Amino acid sequence: MQHLLAINDLTAADIQALFKRADNLQKMTVSERRQRQLGKTALCLFYENSTRTLMSFQLAAQNLGMQASALTMAYSSTQKGETFDDTIKTLAAMAPDTLIMRHPENHIHQHVKSFLPKGIHLINAGDGQNQHPSQALLDLYTISQHKNNIEQLKVTVIGDIKHSRVANSLIDGLSLLGNNNIHLYGPANLIPKVHTGKTAENLKQALTDSDVVVMLRIQKERFASDESLDISTWYAQYGLDSEKLKWAKADAIVLHPGPMNRGIEIASEVADGPQSVILEQVKNGVLIRQAILDHLLS
Ligand code: NCD
Repeated sequence: MQHLLAINDLTAADIQALFKRADNLQKMTVSERRQRQLGKTALCLFYENSTRTLMSFQLAAQNLGMQASALTMAYSSTQKGETFDDTIKTLAAMAPDTLIMRHPENHIHQHVKSFLPKGIHLINAGDGQNQHPSQALLDLYTISQHKNNIEQLKVTVIGDIKHSRVANSLIDGLSLLGNNNIHLYGPANLIPKVHTGKTAENLKQALTDSDVVVMLRIQKERFASDESLDISTWYAQYGLDSEKLKWAKADAIVLHPGPMNRGIEIASEVADGPQSVILEQVKNGVLIRQAILDHLLS
């Protein structure tokens, strides 16, 4: 595989192989792991804010013996008027083994791919509201650590679905793994029409008998100027507290890609509660990103 731009670049077998690779990397000693891709390089180019994705890609690369550098927009020459294409060509001229990029524009990685020199692996760390494949992989990996028969699980995704590349990639990934038991709930204007068949009528219906609950942030920065929202009623209508979580199965797990807005989409009692796997997602993020890099570079 040359690049990872969307979860649909993978097959179900590829996903299972990545999970196996993650398991194997986990079992290695630190020095064995550092030999895996010793001396190779990763450049992280982030045009949007990031905590988890940026740090975990860098850590993942370093854990494999790679050298990783990050450029975030506040410090780049974009501020001095350099065009996007010139920035990419400049970084490509440094001949990194991988370019890991996050950008607010949908599908921009396809454009980058069209002129990126052969030999540089491009990884999508999130493009607009389109795709976030490494997040879907770490979400699916986390789910599979807690639940068998992933294809049968009832998975509920609640919140701002429309602006969520996390939801898009997760829905595609679940469907690759044979799960079409996905239930979405949020304000009608924040559920894209393509997902109408998966939309629940109310929160109770969405959560009842659910095995996996995924909460999403209101991604205000991705709202178009004509899109509006009343945040004051969000928590009452779409927020998850421990009372509402009782509608789901007793052993349901709760995921959130982060960053969380406590008291808006999720109560602290749930975020920090026994059913939350939110910090496991973060931990698995480092491992899954190691598996992605190791797979692309091997
Ligand atoms: C998500 C993203 O950037 O799309 N965050 C992440 O990568 N963990 C979700 C979000 O921003 O709400």
